[in-house]
Amino acid sequence: MKDKYQKIREIVEKKMQGLPPSHDFSHVMRVYNLCLTIAKHENKVDLEVLKIAALLHDIARKEEDLDSSGNTDHAVLGAEIAEKILKDLGFTEDKISKIKHCIACHRYRGTNKPETVEAKILFDADKLDSIGAIGIARSFCWQGENKARIYSDVPLKEYIKENLVGGKLNGKIKDKSKHAANLEFETKLKHIPERLYTERAKAIAKERMRFMNEFFLRLKKEINGEL
Ligand SMILES: [Fe+2]
Ligand SMILES: [Fe+2]
Repeated sequence: MKDKYQKIREIVEKKMQGLPPSHDFSHVMRVYNLCLTIAKHENKVDLEVLKIAALLHDIARKEEDLDSSGNTDHAVLGAEIAEKILKDLGFTEDKISKIKHCIACHRYRGTNKPETVEAKILFDADKLDSIGAIGIARSFCWQGENKARIYSDVPLKEYIKENLVGGKLNGKIKDKSKHAANLEFETKLKHIPERLYTERAKAIAKERMRFMNEFFLRLKKEINGEL
């Protein structure tokens, strides 16, 4: 008899088949493992809620990617899909609503804010997977998947004004082909540590940012032929 985690893992893995490497099922398992690491440093964590929310958090990724209108929010839709799966598996209403809350507010640009310890841990773990060595690897995958660039030396202020909706740092990218890994770092990834909730995630983020800063400084030198 398979345990509930294994069953959910299989459902998610199947649903996420074919997604590009920047956001495939391996991201889910990295987030799951980070959740367990952070949870060790927090009090009164419902590990069942946390583990299941981590496994299901990006279940609607494909729907958002396929919706060219940009109206699908994979966090909101994911919470709905998760509810159906969990009902079928016989979870209680209480557990389902706690898991749904975690999923609905895990998104960086989302308007729902995490309120429970499990939701805060999932939010942090998901963001940590965007920074450090893995963050660099994922960012370059994304640039390739979207025909964007390795590097762009356009002045940052000019780029934000012209290619981010509303001329705002957290605005959506208008033309993906004008985006680049260094611009993703400057406009989004650099600001992730300020958004984290848990102390353990903040400590991990500090070390990951040190590495990223060093990487992008070196990349600039190599791009300019200085090194
Ligand atoms: Fe997500
Ligand atoms: Fe995610």
